[in-house]
Amino acid sequence: MLSWDDPLGFNSGEQKQQPGAGDAAAPTNPVVIEQTLEAVQPGEPAAEKVVSANSAASMEPVHAEDKRVVNGLTDVNQLAPFKYPWAWEFFLNANKNHWTPLDINMTQDVQDYQHRLTPEQRHVYENVLAYLTTSDVLAMRNIGLAVMEKMTAPELQIYQARQVYEEALHTWTYQHCIETIGLDQGEIYNRYRVVPEINHKIQITNRRLHSILRADIDLTNRDELNNFVMSYMFFAAVFEGCWFYNGFSPIFALQRQGLMKGTAEQLQYIMRDEVLHCAFGIRVVKQIFAENSIALDPREIRQMWDESEAAETDYARYILPTPIIGYSAENHVEQFRHTANRRARQLGLEEPFPGARNALPWLDEQANLRKEKNFFETRVTEYQTGGALSWDY
Ligand SMILES: [Fe+2]
Ligand SMILES: [Fe+2]
Repeated sequence: MLSWDDPLGFNSGEQKQQPGAGDAAAPTNPVVIEQTLEAVQPGEPAAEKVVSANSAASMEPVHAEDKRVVNGLTDVNQLAPFKYPWAWEFFLNANKNHWTPLDINMTQDVQDYQHRLTPEQRHVYENVLAYLTTSDVLAMRNIGLAVMEKMTAPELQIYQARQVYEEALHTWTYQHCIETIGLDQGEIYNRYRVVPEINHKIQITNRRLHSILRADIDLTNRDELNNFVMSYMFFAAVFEGCWFYNGFSPIFALQRQGLMKGTAEQLQYIMRDEVLHCAFGIRVVKQIFAENSIALDPREIRQMWDESEAAETDYARYILPTPIIGYSAENHVEQFRHTANRRARQLGLEEPFPGARNALPWLDEQANLRKEKNFFETRVTEYQTGGALSWDY
């Protein structure tokens, strides 16, 4: 089964590859951050090193061990030998999930929306799509404009290039659903601007994105690097790892009632990608911990979880003022807390919501298309026929 915690089965290898203080165990007490990059000497501007590395010194071979996730000085145009072979594995596996929204039959969804959904179910469906489609544009911009350019190893950038494409594909998928169902696009695409509970989640993400979306950002500055790590951690662990993961579940709840199955299948393809996005982002953050002796302020981390929980709670109460069959706002919020604990454990942080229960035990199964027992071990050709997938419910 595809696991959110370790989708490529790297857990054991990860421990071997990244031993030491920085591995997963992000310190919870504030300490002075010290750059440990050997390539950047104290008092020596990083920019000057880059210039020399790209001129006379560029004729020297690149040694994989000299690569760094950020602030590296090796030639970013040289892919191999890999310093981070796991990143290449993410890229290879991402390329096994091929589909377009046109592959999936939406005919029954049109019937369901018009004749079978209750007003409460329509409210859920429309607002979930309105939130997700805005969020995926944000996701594309964050990786493509704010994160990818900071990476100084090409194997990391190449996976993120694929991720940028996938976020665009997800945006197309939502648009295809919205258009096929016949929703008013001008109205749906403006909901994040007029519905405070959707807008708040977008604004939180915008604020954290914009703090690192600056041409003059200098990651050799400890405060800037700290801020970048906090931003990327939020993006991978909360925005993708909790909000997206949880964001699909109301549609899956409809699917479990035999409703909107085409849309749900579309979301399952998206969810496969998001499993990898989340795991990759967390892995990159941990690698930055390992290479830079970073210690984050536990109050900032607590504030991140609390802010995210509050926004998710307001959102849940808006989309589910009353429960629909098999799903309630309480389920949604509890599942957020449960998922947040998982993301914190993956990062080596304390669980923010101890005791949160797995309110939707069926959700993990949704990361796996039911046709395949093990998605990543089946043949590529099987992923290219999304329309042929069948559902048991
Ligand atoms: Fe996405
Ligand atoms: Fe994503």
